[in-house]
Amino acid sequence: MIKEGRILFPKKSSGRPREKKFLADLQSSVTGFSTWLSSKETGFTTHGTREVSNLFNTKIFDFPKPTKLIETICKQASEEGDIVLDFFAGSCTTAHAVMKVCNEDGETRRFIMIQLPEPTDGKSLANKAGYITIAKIGQERIRRAAAKIKEENPEYEGDLGFKVFKLDSSNIRAWNPDRNDLEQTLIDHMEHLVEGRSEEDVLYELLLKRGVDLTVPIEEKTITGKTVYSIGYGVLFACLDTAISRDEIEDLAKGIIDWHKELEPAGDTQVVFRDSAFANDIAKTNMTAILEQHGIAHVKSL
Ligand SMILES: C[S@@+](CC[C@H](N)C(=O)[O-])C[C@H]1O[C@@H](n2cnc3c(N)ncnc32)[C@H](O)[C@@H]1O
Repeated sequence: MIKEGRILFPKKSSGRPREKKFLADLQSSVTGFSTWLSSKETGFTTHGTREVSNLFNTKIFDFPKPTKLIETICKQASEEGDIVLDFFAGSCTTAHAVMKVCNEDGETRRFIMIQLPEPTDGKSLANKAGYITIAKIGQERIRRAAAKIKEENPEYEGDLGFKVFKLDSSNIRAWNPDRNDLEQTLIDHMEHLVEGRSEEDVLYELLLKRGVDLTVPIEEKTITGKTVYSIGYGVLFACLDTAISRDEIEDLAKGIIDWHKELEPAGDTQVVFRDSAFANDIAKTNMTAILEQHGIAHVKSL
């Protein structure tokens, strides 16, 4: 750079050498910043407040960002297949903006909104309207924004759906042996799923642990009175029923095998049961053997 004369040396030795900048360099590196100067791209906070108030027919959230601002960010920073994450979601302006941009440019982006279940002020219009937490406002805002986008763009076929999850401790009870009474501990741990958790809770932990996208399609069927889930078109099957008697093994296995044949998933399939559901190890081994005979080699129990 010195040879190319691109270093400016200071007159005084106390000064600092600087890099010479050319117009071309300036244009290529800072264009991004200057485009937000006009409110056309950013909107004002008042726009944000008006947008949310129009959706809820009342002033329900203070100082939401205008969707225009987040749309501009999305257009500049995201594209087909990206996930847009907002860790401080509030009224979920970002989700609204992502849906609008996808409707506009036809590309598919997805969003993850993270919001504390922060209680709304008891005297607030939001609370009086039944939104006891800010998270509830955000969820309802997404529903109403999606409905509005669909109403204004009936031909739009993009996915406007979303799932709501709440962070919680594992459904699998931690192994905490009572050294003075190991036998009782073992008996107590025969059922090692936390009491009171739903099948869905356990199912989603299963997906998380297997690194399966939480938005994969999940279908359910009742087979010999048991609810069986197919996740991701048969990549994973789960029956989390609390009791599977010896007489039900064959019908249940046959039902899963038939469904597996119907779905023809690519690659290996795994079937997961609740360990404590089987009367004993023989019953569990029977189930595993029948499934293996029909090409389902990965049978696990929780
Ligand atoms: C300024 S508001 C965001 C408003 C949002 N941009 C909108 O347009 O509606 C910040 C939000 O972050 C939430 N928040 C603060 N700390 C959080 C945390 N650690 N995890 C998740 N959400 C958090 C607050 O409850 C509040 O709703």
